[in-house]
Amino acid sequence: MQTVRVEAQNGSYDILIGRGLLAQAEQALSMCAGRRALVVADTNTAPLYGQAMLRALGLAGARASLYTVPAGEESKSLAQLAALYDAFLDAGLSRRDFVVALGGGVVGDLAGYAAASFLRGVRLIQVPTTLLSQVDSSVGGKTAVNLPRGKNLVGAFYQPERVLIDVDTLDTLDARQVGAGLGEVIKYGCIADEALFARIEQAGGRAALWAHIDGVIARCCALKADYVRRDPLDKGVRAQLNFGHTLGHAVENAAGYGQVLHGEGVCMGMVAAARWGEGWGVTEPGTAARIERVLRAYGLPTQAPNLPREALARAMRLDKKASGGRVQVVVLERIGRAATHEVDQAALEALL
Ligand SMILES: NC(=O)c1ccc[n+]([C@@H]2O[C@H](COP(=O)([O-])OP(=O)(O)OC[C@H]3O[C@@H](n4cnc5c(N)ncnc54)[C@H](O)[C@@H]3O)[C@@H](O)[C@H]2O)c1
Repeated sequence: MQTVRVEAQNGSYDILIGRGLLAQAEQALSMCAGRRALVVADTNTAPLYGQAMLRALGLAGARASLYTVPAGEESKSLAQLAALYDAFLDAGLSRRDFVVALGGGVVGDLAGYAAASFLRGVRLIQVPTTLLSQVDSSVGGKTAVNLPRGKNLVGAFYQPERVLIDVDTLDTLDARQVGAGLGEVIKYGCIADEALFARIEQAGGRAALWAHIDGVIARCCALKADYVRRDPLDKGVRAQLNFGHTLGHAVENAAGYGQVLHGEGVCMGMVAAARWGEGWGVTEPGTAARIERVLRAYGLPTQAPNLPREALARAMRLDKKASGGRVQVVVLERIGRAATHEVDQAALEALL
């Protein structure tokens, strides 16, 4: 088992990473002894891991129960949030009790925001079960639900007391979701860790990388923890985590949510941002080709699907807060080092 410490102004905690952790999580959950714990899972993770989670909490001395939400982004809604508050009331949760988010980023964001806001904050444990949530969304304290007019418009920074990553839960995740998570893993290499990128490059594909995926997840968590420590409220350097998002978000939106997974959009966006950066003279030549080769080796998309340029530009305008017609784009100086570059909105749209 590996431990990564997250030191944030608004709360410090350990991320525990290992194989088979759920079956032996008693010690890791010792803070729940004598407390109530409501496990929030979705219709996929509840049948797969709900009982193991309840058992671990029971062994740790908690009075645990399970609440299930429908799988999918639609559950990050105000209606589902209200239903969750009801479940918290039914379970008799007090501020000393726990919400345990067992699932991917959807469950983590929804249950996390419910925990942040119910009674002005009940205690939270994240048990992420997708690769994306293990390397990204469960770490750093961002929680949110969506409004009909946009994603993540209501939320809070709310740190968990513990993150428990059982790498074995990835065995049941479908290959496309694994790929979306790998896109985020590759992104960490691009923005902050050339050695990680080289390790992924040398492994040459998913099967070989999987032999040491726990170490890779731990490294990504450590990199995210460092961004969170330096910028807990996402007002500065944490923006580098948005590498690949300028085009990625636009493609996700323009294609219609669910058509292109977030991590897939990021893959396409990373190649584009590296090309733009080379064109602007800020990115080392050859970087885009290197990223593209790695993505191909891992069966990940490198190019945006054929979408009307105007739809992409509109989606980008909605997503990017342009000030005075200028937008900030996260670019690479080289693999392992990110920077921001300001460009004209119109010039950026011309590159689509
Ligand atoms: N808070 C943050 O910092 C942050 C960062 C990135 C993304 N997000 C959010 O995360 C969400 C996406 O998260 P996601 O990609 O994990 O999606 P998700 O939670 O929808 O999970 C993807 C699918 O996999 C299923 N699943 C989860 N774990 C499984 C397992 N072990 N075995 C089998 N199936 C499993 C889920 O039921 C779902 O159908 C988005 O809402 C996004 O906004 C948040």
